[in-house]
Amino acid sequence: MFSQSDFVHMERALALAQRGLYTTDPNPRVGCVLVRDGVVIGEGYTQPAGQDHAEIQAMKDARTRGHELRGATAYVTLEPCSHFGRTPPCANALIEAKVARVIAAMEDPNPLVSGRGLAILRDAGIDVRCGLLASEARELNIGFVSRMTRKRPWVRMKVAASLDGRTGLPSGESQWITGEAARADGHAWRARASAILTGIGTVKEDDPRMTVRAVNTPRQPKRVLIDSRLDASPLAQIFVGAPTLVFCAALDESNAERAEALRARGAELVALGNEHGKVDLPAMLGELAERGVNELHVEAGYKLNGSLLREGCVDELLVYVAPSLLGTSSLGMIDIAAPATLEGRTRLAFHSVDRLGNDLRILARVVTAQDA
Ligand SMILES: NC(=O)c1ccc[n+]([C@@H]2O[C@H](COP(=O)([O-])OP(=O)(O)OC[C@H]3O[C@@H](n4cnc5c(N)ncnc54)[C@H](OP(=O)(O)O)[C@@H]3O)[C@@H](O)[C@H]2O)c1
Repeated sequence: MFSQSDFVHMERALALAQRGLYTTDPNPRVGCVLVRDGVVIGEGYTQPAGQDHAEIQAMKDARTRGHELRGATAYVTLEPCSHFGRTPPCANALIEAKVARVIAAMEDPNPLVSGRGLAILRDAGIDVRCGLLASEARELNIGFVSRMTRKRPWVRMKVAASLDGRTGLPSGESQWITGEAARADGHAWRARASAILTGIGTVKEDDPRMTVRAVNTPRQPKRVLIDSRLDASPLAQIFVGAPTLVFCAALDESNAERAEALRARGAELVALGNEHGKVDLPAMLGELAERGVNELHVEAGYKLNGSLLREGCVDELLVYVAPSLLGTSSLGMIDIAAPATLEGRTRLAFHSVDRLGNDLRILARVVTAQDA
């Protein structure tokens, strides 16, 4: 169904889409290559929200270079949009340009519009195919797909640990367990996320900024703090700069003063309590999805990590493993109870294993009952 050159052009479109990794949020990262008579005539990728989508960029590129679009093939990593959002529909623009073929890597994951863009193109007499390098395209927009299909972000839990799985000394000291290359890589994962989440324990112990510094990005992810009782100091570094979103269990007279002090630091407070007086974590994910969060990057201590995992709020673990041992009394990674039998263990699947300087980087996905 697809030729060798189709693969080559779609691979190029995926590489272009990758250029929007840090910038397209909350929109998906999309790449487009226009080919006519075997020659690439235009290329584009999604610009920051509200600006051109990949197809429009590629058409502008082709026209600027003096190329005729009629009869061209468009390779796009996501089904062209069919609706008026902040920009007009790309499907219409492709029809007006009289392209002959459109090859899409995957359908739009939004169930409300999925397939519609392709149908509009087909109705206009364009030869439309879908599914070329679909899994690569899906990976690139794993958070967008999650938000559209599950109404929750893709949750990636980052942990830096010793080889015996410890994340800090009993004293709380944890900086730094891993080397510089691993830490810089961690910032690249922060940069691609829509939001970075941490817990009150980490804020009290480490006072982190939770910003992206080690890589160049024009966009800082939103910062999110889980703080049931509003215990955070208004002077904490997490409140410096852009507003931080704080989820607490309740907002009432008991914490009104603390709430005011945090608001004065620009924090936005959201009360989402559960029956245990803690933050309702699944509901929090729903709220973040409502706010356009695609990928949520978690950098918390073992307690919040444990709560998130227990409540089914984690999709993958990004673990940096340092070649050192910290001992059994040091802090663990994830506070979960041992299962009664091995049958009940939390199962993971290694997605990738890489070496970064002296450390290892492991990306492991949580295997759910549906996957098994
Ligand atoms: N190596 C690493 O990758 C790494 C990364 C981050 C932090 N750390 C280390 O971790 C240590 C801090 O660990 P930690 O476990 O205390 O920090 P944490 O996980 O960031 O925060 C712990 C707090 O989260 C709250 N929490 C847990 N579940 C909750 C829920 N469902 N709703 C609301 N709040 C919930 C609890 O607060 P309440 O008791 O108020 O309910 C708990 O005290 C520090 O030493 C830090 O250096 C290491």
